[in-house]
Amino acid sequence: MGKLMFISLFVAALSALFGERIINLRSRTLASRELAQNHLPDCALLRNLEYGSEDITILPNGLALISTGLKYPGVPSFSDGPGKMFSLDLQDSRMKPVELRMTRNFDLDSFNPHGISVYTDENDNAIYLFVVNHPQHESQVELFRFIEDEHSLLHLKTIKHELLHSVNDIVAVGVESFYATNDHFFTNAVLKQVEPLLGQPWCNVVYYSPEDVKEVSVGYYFANGINISPDKSHLYVVDILDHKVHVLERKESNALVPVKAVAVGSLCDNVEIDADTGDLWLGCHPNGWKAVLNDPAVPPGSEVIRIQNIHSELPVVTQVYADNGSVIIGSSVAARYKGKLLIGTVYHKAMCCDLE
Ligand SMILES: *[C@@H]1O[C@H](CO)[C@@H](O)[C@H](O)[C@H]1NC(C)=O
Repeated sequence: MGKLMFISLFVAALSALFGERIINLRSRTLASRELAQNHLPDCALLRNLEYGSEDITILPNGLALISTGLKYPGVPSFSDGPGKMFSLDLQDSRMKPVELRMTRNFDLDSFNPHGISVYTDENDNAIYLFVVNHPQHESQVELFRFIEDEHSLLHLKTIKHELLHSVNDIVAVGVESFYATNDHFFTNAVLKQVEPLLGQPWCNVVYYSPEDVKEVSVGYYFANGINISPDKSHLYVVDILDHKVHVLERKESNALVPVKAVAVGSLCDNVEIDADTGDLWLGCHPNGWKAVLNDPAVPPGSEVIRIQNIHSELPVVTQVYADNGSVIIGSSVAARYKGKLLIGTVYHKAMCCDLE
């Protein structure tokens, strides 16, 4: 075979492979999916949150904690300042998010908050806030104590570990312990960019405590949101690129045993748990291809999905809200408090809706 012939065959094979990988990625991101509007009766965009509200968690008293200003490779970001934490009192009809003060004993200028989780110590009712942080695109977890009367976060420590290399979200299970999802397998910046094209289920979930750090689950295309059932017996892990929520049983050793996976038909991001009902609330990207391109002419939409009775034989998966991007772009989280639904986004605004 001539050298030229060999090269052209090689190029043809490579482009066929690349083409096949692009088709695979388009199907993983539901690139052709069109969305019908499914609005709720009364929704209002919130003030002060112009640079996203990637993750939200609501305390039992109706105070929502919100991370904003995420900068993440390959995802749009319109803020040139550091990320921030906000709170929003859902019992107060003014619906005004307030920035939380943070103590200056860590680097505020590079603060880049992503997934968050709260743990309340039953002994003294102290509230601990865990925040995934990406200063200089690194991956670490900041542990704060939330001082509610002062609207402030007292920084306690920074947690870093080689197993916590690409953390997306966390769920706290103790004053210093949590489960975390890694949304990439590779740690090298270039390989990380190529990873979505490879489309392999290599991502994992890690358990962290000061005494014990270990991989507890593996096999995710892109492990994203993570949360825990109200009775603490099961974990839920969202695989955004596989359009599924995995249910795992938590053992006394903190190991996880897979139970099942529930299909959601969308690229779901974070998962919040309804403390009263155990329902799962998911902020989802109906079309992940649009979400990454972010073309203003065809903006990415938003979708909220609820899963009821997830542990039964027949979980009920319901689309509660859908918007084509004309109202709210790139929803990443949804959380219910009483009759209200709070919807957060990766880099757009945040919105509060009445559920009925
Ligand atoms: C979204 O749907 C509305 C109708 O509800 C329509 O007016 C608007 O043009 C649509 N926007 C996009 C970006 O498709």
